[in-house]
Parts: sequence; C-alpha cells; structure tokens
Amino acid sequence: MLKGKLIVFEGLDGSGKTTQAFMLVEALNRRGYKAEYTCEPTYGRVGDLIRLHVSKLKSRKPIYEALLFAADRYEHIFREVKPKLRKGVIMISDRYVYSSLAYQGAGGLSLEWLKSINFFAPKPDLTIYLDVPAREALARKHKSASRRTVFEDLEFQSKVREIYLKLAEEEGFLKFDGTKPVETVHREVLRAVLRFLRKT
Ligand code: TYD
Repeated sequence: MLKGKLIVFEGLDGSGKTTQAFMLVEALNRRGYKAEYTCEPTYGRVGDLIRLHVSKLKSRKPIYEALLFAADRYEHIFREVKPKLRKGVIMISDRYVYSSLAYQGAGGLSLEWLKSINFFAPKPDLTIYLDVPAREALARKHKSASRRTVFEDLEFQSKVREIYLKLAEEEGFLKFDGTKPVETVHREVLRAVLRFLRKT
C-alpha cells in the first residue's frame, strides 16, 4: 500500500523545474507535510554512467539512452521512491518517465516502445509541466554556445516541447507558464498542489 504521493516536475532544460521542485518541497514541509526532493537521472550507479557518457555523445544514440534512463529509473523507483511512498512521504521528482518519452521520442523513437520499456514505473499522482518556448529555454541555458549548436538544439528542443504539449493534453498534466517570474510560478504551483493534497 503506497500511502505517499508521487508528484513529478517535467519541462525543458531551463524551464525552472529544479528551482520550483525545491521551492515546493520547502513550502510543503513548512506546512507540516513530509515532502522530499528526488531527481532523474539519479546519483546512483546508472545515473552516474548517464552523466559521464550520455552528455558526451556527439551523435545522439536514442535507443542506448532510453535503455540507460529506464535502468536508472528502475533503481530509482525500487530503491528510493516506492519505499518512501510506503512510509507516506510526498516524493517530488525532478523528471520521470515523461522525460524519456519527450527527449528520446524527439530522438526518433516510438512513444509506444518507450512506454513499454518503462512498464514498471507507477503513474505519478500529479504531473506539473512548466512550459517555456524552446528558444527561451535555450537562451536561459547556454548564453555562449556557437550558432550551429544553438540551431541544432533549437530544432531538437522544439520537438521535445511538442511531445510534452501532446502528453500534457493526453495525460492531464497541470500546465504552468514557466516564463512568469519564479515567485509567481511557485505560488501557482503551490496553490494547485495544496488543492490536490486536500482532496486526496
Ligand atoms: P537534467 O534534469 O537537466 O539533470 P541535471 O540535474 O544533470 O541538470 O537532466 C539531464 C538531461 O537528461 C536532460 O537534458 C534531459 C535528459 N533526460 C532524457 O533525455 N531522458 C530521461 O529519461 C531523463 C530522465 C532525462
């Protein structure tokens, strides 16, 4: 029996998810809830491998990436997320399965195959999607990248966002405008999460 709740943040790099995830954890704990931050890729064995190798791959290898992210997620869920949920903790995860669908999907893989290799992942209780246009997310990330990388990245990030927006409709994500000031986004997210927690 999982007594806790799994709340997931999704969005492009530069959408502000990490900042918002930390702010939410803090705000919930101040209100007496037991909330913890966690993230994917993890800082476990496979997560370290991903950080070491995947970021350095010149050509994207989506199948290899998808399998590594799924293996990392498997460890994350069984070693950390589920045991904490059983204890009643509200787990706030910075990225989850939808990152694989959006990023490796943008790399050309079928969403059905990506879902199937992640079959073991429980559906989050709530998914918060911070929407930021690809151009703005990139501008926030690399201020000094070359024009060529920026162009390639822009095309890729636009595909990632397109998939996120489609998933948001299909899966019922709570969507927030990530271009608003940090405090405003935080207030909107917190209000929605508190409403959700009160009714469950
Ligand atoms: P990110 O959240 O940026 O981690 P960090 O704390 O290291 O900044 O995630 C790293 C990258 O991994 C990011 O570009 C998205 C990508 N990613 C995938 O492609 N698939 C996945 O399943 C996950 C979890 C992340």
